[in-house]
Amino acid sequence: MVAKSISLLPWLQNYISFLFFSFTTIFFLLSILLLLLRFWPWCNCHVCKAFLSSSWTAEFTNLSDWYTHLLRRSPTGTINIHVLGNTVTANPDNVEYMLKTRFDNFPKGKPFSSLLGDLLGRGIFNVDGDSWQFQRKMASLELGSVSVRSYAFHIVTAEIRRRLIPLFASLSDGVIDLQDVFRRFAFDSICKISFGLYPGCLEASLPMSEFAAAFDTASRLSAKRGTAVAPALWKLKRLLNVGSERELKRAIRLVNVLADEVIRQRRELGSASSHDLLSRFMCSVNDDRYLRDIVISFLLAGRDTVASGLTTFFLVLSKHPAVTAAIREEIANVMRGSGDDDVASFEQLKKMHYVHAAMYESLRLYPPVQFDSKFCVEDDVLPDGTFVRKGTRVTYHPYAMGRMESIWGPDCEEFKPERWLHDGKFVPASPFKYPVFQGGLRVCLGKEMALMEMKAVIVSVVPRFDLRVLDTGRSLKFAPGLSASIDGGLPAQVRRRRSPAHGPC
Ligand code: HEM
Ligand SMILES: *[C@@H]1O[C@H](CO)[C@@H](O)[C@H](O)[C@H]1NC(C)=O
Repeated sequence: MVAKSISLLPWLQNYISFLFFSFTTIFFLLSILLLLLRFWPWCNCHVCKAFLSSSWTAEFTNLSDWYTHLLRRSPTGTINIHVLGNTVTANPDNVEYMLKTRFDNFPKGKPFSSLLGDLLGRGIFNVDGDSWQFQRKMASLELGSVSVRSYAFHIVTAEIRRRLIPLFASLSDGVIDLQDVFRRFAFDSICKISFGLYPGCLEASLPMSEFAAAFDTASRLSAKRGTAVAPALWKLKRLLNVGSERELKRAIRLVNVLADEVIRQRRELGSASSHDLLSRFMCSVNDDRYLRDIVISFLLAGRDTVASGLTTFFLVLSKHPAVTAAIREEIANVMRGSGDDDVASFEQLKKMHYVHAAMYESLRLYPPVQFDSKFCVEDDVLPDGTFVRKGTRVTYHPYAMGRMESIWGPDCEEFKPERWLHDGKFVPASPFKYPVFQGGLRVCLGKEMALMEMKAVIVSVVPRFDLRVLDTGRSLKFAPGLSASIDGGLPAQVRRRRSPAHGPC
């Protein structure tokens, strides 16, 4: 009897630990389920059902086109995606209200900084209050100064002359991915302008193409978090380090290596006498982690947006030969008397109103930042009467706004540079109707620089080359990310033209 109970003991022990294990597992799973249920919003409305089941994809290829469709049909120009707790607006009065009038009630907010926090940290895009004010002041001193603008122009023209034109020329009759070319160009330019570094120097110690890929991955996966119906889900994935969160973590680690290297090299070169943005920040920031966040924000600001703007410009242009001809004519007129090999001077660029109009027009239809969100602090009512409860994510949608009949008239979907010209002079629109560079207190700080950069490229490339976007048979799809990019790139055929700078087309 005693012997029997002794031999039973290990079995009992096993049994109890098994029971214990099962109970904790079941308890754990149940609490996760409860957590999900609590935070998983249910909604049966038409729009939410289409969103949750992805049934909108039957009619639309790109999410932004579906939103545009919904916003057009809304009498106020505002919709609500209940399951995301997201109010989306294309109404200029609302946009002015959130970006200017009631700026303090619509900050980036906590939820946003947790979505992008792992990538952007305390960088300017991701913060409010003092930290934002400090970075904004430093950066606007830098980007607003005349000497920095002419320095930037000098860098951009050198880059065009030495790399971009020779690259296109070497490819005559060949095929190239325009998106890739413009990303490299924008990356090299922003590195020199913001950090005073030649990416060639970075290349020697780091594999740059891997960084570019890591940057794209990090931007895409961070943006993907924002479309999750239940934030608890990605947070759980991050906790367990699985799936896309694991991939994101790896990408961010690589991006950090690049940023650290930028800081190290800048320090080695000495920052006291330099006039780049990073040197300015280094004089007053000792915290390397903070510096890293600043570097990443400026890389992101300067690379993807400009590359996106240029890529879609040439996409639109290749479908509009008459506009191409008019651009060539204006360039030839302004540059008459300059040598064939010359790239336009800053003064010459300023005289090209038609090119400027064409650029604004393509950014209207293809804004690099398709939508942008803030979080409402206190209950509020937008000018169109929409009530927003505190904590709601409120999004303005430049992509949809560029395609609203109520803003641009019945020809809103047509590419017409003339709409920006009055007596041959370019006239801008209100930033709240055209929030491509945002508007109000946080308006883009790189706007003038970005426009100069794009214009310099357009004016050098259009007269010299025919870029014909190839019809690959697939419909062009936007890839999700913080700024608009085309899934799979934009292959185009390059053909050199006979007379580079002269003669109308
Ligand atoms: C075509 C090119 C560009 C477009 C369409 C664009 C658009 C925008 C938009 C929509 C924002 C607001 C983002 C937000 O608050 O979430 C923004 C902010 C900003 N942009 Fe740009 N941008 C462009 C190029 C650049 C360049 C080249 C630079 C820098 C050299 C730059 C620097 C900044 C900075 C620093 C901010 C943050 C401003 C703040 O939060 O106070 N941007 N930009
Ligand atoms: C978005 O979707 C439409 C198809 O509905 C497609 O034709 C268009 O080119 C797509 N992408 C872009 C980049 O506009």
